This record gives sequence, structure tokens and C-alpha cells, in this order.
Amino acid sequence: MDRAYNSGYVLITFMVMVMVTAAAGQLPRPRVGFYLSSCPNVESIVRSVVRSHLQSDRRIAPGILRMHFHDCFVRGCDGSVLIAGSNSERTAVPNLSLRGFEVIDDAKTQLEASCPNTVSCADILALAARDVVLLTGGTTWAVPLGRLDGRISQASDVNLPAPSDPVPVQKQDFAAKNLNTQDLVTLVGGHTLGTAGCGVFRNRFFNFNNTGSPDPAINPTFVPQIQSQCPLNGDATVRVPLDTGSVDRFDTSFLQNLRSGRGVLFSDQALWSDPETRAIVERFLGLRLPILLFGPEFGRSMTKMSLVEVKTGSDGEIRRVCSAVN
Ligand code: HEM
Repeated sequence: MDRAYNSGYVLITFMVMVMVTAAAGQLPRPRVGFYLSSCPNVESIVRSVVRSHLQSDRRIAPGILRMHFHDCFVRGCDGSVLIAGSNSERTAVPNLSLRGFEVIDDAKTQLEASCPNTVSCADILALAARDVVLLTGGTTWAVPLGRLDGRISQASDVNLPAPSDPVPVQKQDFAAKNLNTQDLVTLVGGHTLGTAGCGVFRNRFFNFNNTGSPDPAINPTFVPQIQSQCPLNGDATVRVPLDTGSVDRFDTSFLQNLRSGRGVLFSDQALWSDPETRAIVERFLGLRLPILLFGPEFGRSMTKMSLVEVKTGSDGEIRRVCSAVN
């Protein structure tokens, strides 16, 4: 009797605690070390899969970094970008050039062998994005874990910032995800890695806004360089580095290129024209070794982005394979 009374009391106390927590909007948040007892090797498994893929194809580094951004900005960081199938997010135009899905799938296969049904695909992607930055010369950071995977992935939900966006629009898009202007500039600094297809930005170098001339924000010596790489009627899928001269290295050369008018995308170069965002770029570049400031700040803003609209509690699942819902 006493025992029944006690367990009833414990149950009620527990339920009250759950209700109070829920009422306060405090669902469990992802935290560093979430898999410490359930899958202690999660980080080393992801790291070694990423490393081995990177050795055979350096382009997966920018691919995965961008994939995490595209995941977080659409339905939150819930692995929805990883789902294959007709009309899934992967089929939306900005996602057609994503790379590295096989890396996440591979890590998932290895994790299912070590700790079945435990690690979410959204967490694997967040870890892999951290690892590609470290493995290309950037600074590391601790990734909070414990995201659940979403069950919905629709191409029609994909509404990402565009390379033609002026700074106020970029600020708005980031603010909608609780990311401030400092985060915007820092995260766009991720363009230190990777490439863009000529078709995405070519007009800027030939006929900016139908003026018949290149964008005046471009350094005049940079114009012929890009014009020869991306001729007006040439192949729109040819890709050029977003960070001229340092495409594979996570460094601050992209920010230096903005300062010298060598940004490839309109949206990137605009960060140097707008006084508020320029001040942030200047602050990074003001140091003798700018990476000492940019590196940790990038990790801080990535951590913030990696927590955008995360699913915990009962609104998600741990997928068995990352490309399909259970
Ligand atoms: C205003 C925000 C942003 C805009 C407008 C933007 C736009 C773009 C565009 C147009 C491309 C080239 C795509 C292609 O031609 O295939 C690109 C590539 C890339 N973006 Fe962004 N981006 C933004 C923010 C970010 C953020 C926050 C990150 C990560 C933290 C990121 C990481 C990358 C990377 C790494 C690439 C190179 C991809 C590759 O080489 O495969 N971008 N971005």
C-alpha cells in the first residue's frame, strides 16, 4: 500500500515537472556530450568518415558546410535536406548542387553498426559540418547534440537567401532565424570554401542590372578574370572559387577579397558596401592574424545556426537511414 502510494506520488511529481517544463517552453535542448553514454565514439566515427571522403574529393568540404546551412534554414536543423525522393528538399534548385550526401549516409551506416537507433542524421550533419571546417584549416568547436530528425521534406518549403539579395534582405532572412548581423557576416564567411556556377553570378560581370556594364563594386582588374572563366554564352555550370586564390582553405582570404572588390556573388560583395556589415569585416581584418578572431567567431555563429528550430521531445525521430523517413 505504502509502496503504491509512493510510486503514485513519484509519478504525479514527475508529471507536474513535465507540465511545468512544457509550460515554460523548456523542451530539452541539444547539449554537448548528449551521446556520452549511448554512443561514446560518435564524434570519432563521424570525423574519420569525413576525413576519408575528403581525401578522395576535396569538394565535399564546401558541400557539407553548405548542406548544413540549407538544412537549418528550412524547417530547422532536422536533416530534412537529406531526404531523397520526388519533391523532397533535395530536388529544389538551390539544393541540386549540394554535395556530400554519401558522406552522411556512410557515417550513418557505421553508427548504426556501433550504436543502433541512437544518433540522428541532423546531428551527424552538424558534426560533419564542424569537421570539414577543422580539416580544411579552420578552428574547431563543441557541437551540442540531441537533435531529432524531421519527417517532412518538401521542395516547396525551400526559400533560401539568394545571391542577388541586398544586405537588408540578407539581414532579414537571418533575423528570421534569430541570427544577428554579426552572425550573418561571420557565417557568409563560410564562402572561404567552395565554388559557384557561372550561371548564378555571371550577369554581374557583363551587364549588371541591365546597365550594359559590370557591377561598379567589382575591382576592375577582377572583371576580365571572371569574364574569361565564365564567358557570356559559355557553360553556366562551370564553377569558379568563391574565394579567389584559396578555394580549399578555411581562412580569411574571402574577407580580404571582399575588401579588394573580388567578391564573386553580389550578396557577398554587398557586405563590403553596407556600413554596418563592412565594420564587421573590418573588425575581423583589423588583427595581424585575423583567423584568431574569425575562427572562434565562426564556431560560435555555427553553433547558433545549428540550433535553429531544432526538434527534440516527440516532434521527430531517429532515422534508420538518412535519406528516408522511418
Ligand atoms: C546570404 C546568405 C547566402 C547566400 C545568398 C549564399 C549563396 C550561395 C550561392 C549562390 C552559392 C553557389 C551555389 C552554386 O552555384 O552551386 C553558394 C555556395 C556556398 N555556400 Fe552560400 N550563401 C549564403 C550563406 C551561406 C552560409 C551561411 C554558409 C555556411 C555557413 C554557406 C556556405 C556555402 C558554401 C561552402 C558554398 C560552396 C559550395 C560548393 O562548393 O559546393 N553559404 N552560396
